[in-house]
Amino acid sequence: MDKCAVYPGTFDPITNGHLDIVERAAKLFSKIIVAVGENPEKTPLFSHNERFELVKEAVSALELPNITVGQFTGLLAQYAQDTDATAIIRGLRAVSDFEHEFQMALANRKLFPDAETVFLMPSEPFVYLNSSMVKVIARNDGNISQFVPPCVEKALLEKIGGIK
Ligand code: COA
Repeated sequence: MDKCAVYPGTFDPITNGHLDIVERAAKLFSKIIVAVGENPEKTPLFSHNERFELVKEAVSALELPNITVGQFTGLLAQYAQDTDATAIIRGLRAVSDFEHEFQMALANRKLFPDAETVFLMPSEPFVYLNSSMVKVIARNDGNISQFVPPCVEKALLEKIGGIK
């Protein structure tokens, strides 16, 4: 039986840490939808559409046949239901992620009991990485090439160069 999982995030922007999770998830499920959403508490640097396009480009470079990219607004649980997903993938990097992830997983389970949240650990070099850190390094002219795929590095330098 086909098992579809949604991997949601703000992806502002997608990093090598997120891509590491995508690769791990692709081995476990027959289909993964990397879903670009909105966290109402965040003001993203990249627009929804820019984030979606960057995720598409970064994911296609992985050359994995069972990954698609989607986008959603509103509730993740609704999107998971609409796409017939049986799992929601989240990366768990440190204990500090736990409380927020635990709350989200329980809320999503209440809203859509048929999907289980599955936590995956990224490989060690990405355990400390997040999108905010990458943006700070880029704004301060640091080298981000080890943290993000080439398309994101280019987009970040253009975006931040334009803002400075
Ligand atoms: N490697 C590197 N960084 C990672 C990572 C990994 N494997 N996994 C997460 N992160 C980072 C992200 O880059 C991000 O960093 P930032 O805060 O510096 O930007 C942070 O961890 C978490 O962001 P993200 O993964 O985008 O999750 P989020 O907590 O912002 O949630 C949604 C995004 C879209 C999944 C969530 O807001 C959502 O579901 N929204 C819809 C409304 C809803 O249904 N809410 C839940 C029920 S109330």
